[in-house]
Amino acid sequence: MTTAASAPNIALIKYWGNSNDDLRVPAAGSVSMTLDSPTVSISVEHTDELIVESDKKLTPTDLGRFEKTLENIKHYLILEGLETTLPGYVKISVDSKIPAGIGLASSAAVFSALAKAISLLVDTELTDEQIATMARLGSGSAARSIYDGFVALDADGTTRQVAPMDHWKLHDIIIAPDIDHKKVGSTEGHRLAHTSPAFDARIKAIEEYRVQECEDAITQKDFEKLMRVSEEDCEDMHCVMQTQNPPLQYLNDETHRLIRELKSLRADKHLPLLCTMDAGPTVHVICEEEAVEAVKNYAHAQEECTVFEAQVGKGSYSA
Ligand code: DP6
Repeated sequence: MTTAASAPNIALIKYWGNSNDDLRVPAAGSVSMTLDSPTVSISVEHTDELIVESDKKLTPTDLGRFEKTLENIKHYLILEGLETTLPGYVKISVDSKIPAGIGLASSAAVFSALAKAISLLVDTELTDEQIATMARLGSGSAARSIYDGFVALDADGTTRQVAPMDHWKLHDIIIAPDIDHKKVGSTEGHRLAHTSPAFDARIKAIEEYRVQECEDAITQKDFEKLMRVSEEDCEDMHCVMQTQNPPLQYLNDETHRLIRELKSLRADKHLPLLCTMDAGPTVHVICEEEAVEAVKNYAHAQEECTVFEAQVGKGSYSA
């Protein structure tokens, strides 16, 4: 039996829409920061039928996703010439500290931990790039949680580290207004992203300058630049979501209130913080050290919200 653990990542330039839905090849590049918590731990072992055990209730859709991911991983390993090391069937045990469906990228942590645990089960050493590809087959954004620090997932489906975790000690204070499970998951949403009239222009902007500006901001530790490009892209992604057919509205009134108040806190106190949301109402407040205390005080004063405190993290690891 092998065990690996992993945490979510928060996208600074977001992945929304695929060029190949089955293999989760993204329509454009994305850039993220890997977090240090909350973590998911996954154990895998050889058995003679597929078994998935979890501390959370799994739906038939969840089970189907594990099955499909394992099939795709097997095909991928064959393509890489590693068929002799393939696990036959596996038993997967999931232990997650992440509430699902609130825009906290639980699937990213689950499938990056699964890919890492499988890589430890096969008898050949796989590269991070290969493990990231296996993770992507389960969840696109999971590919980025294989690495520590700041990570890019390119439009051809390959991943690379932009900067290691000790390069820039950013924090992510996560404010979740509503921990009900979201109605439409990302996988379904990605498939219909191209139906939005705003989709093509967003892909063009990402390709032409957003990924580059985001990577420059990270390399130069230029928070102002990071704030501008990541907030612009987040707004653009939610505009695509809201105008695709059928429309997806992941943000709610609480999200908008939190953003408004955080932006006025930023303006009043000149704080290096930015707000970004994935496929849920949860607000991720990314900030530099000097803003952490004020952001934490604000977050914990929101009585109806659940707060998580994370920092840039180390990526998936053997546990
Ligand atoms: C909005 O990776 O969750 O969080 O491949 O279906 O699991 P699946 O999609 P997923 O999509 C991520 C969407 C996002 C933006 C991002 O993390 O880049």
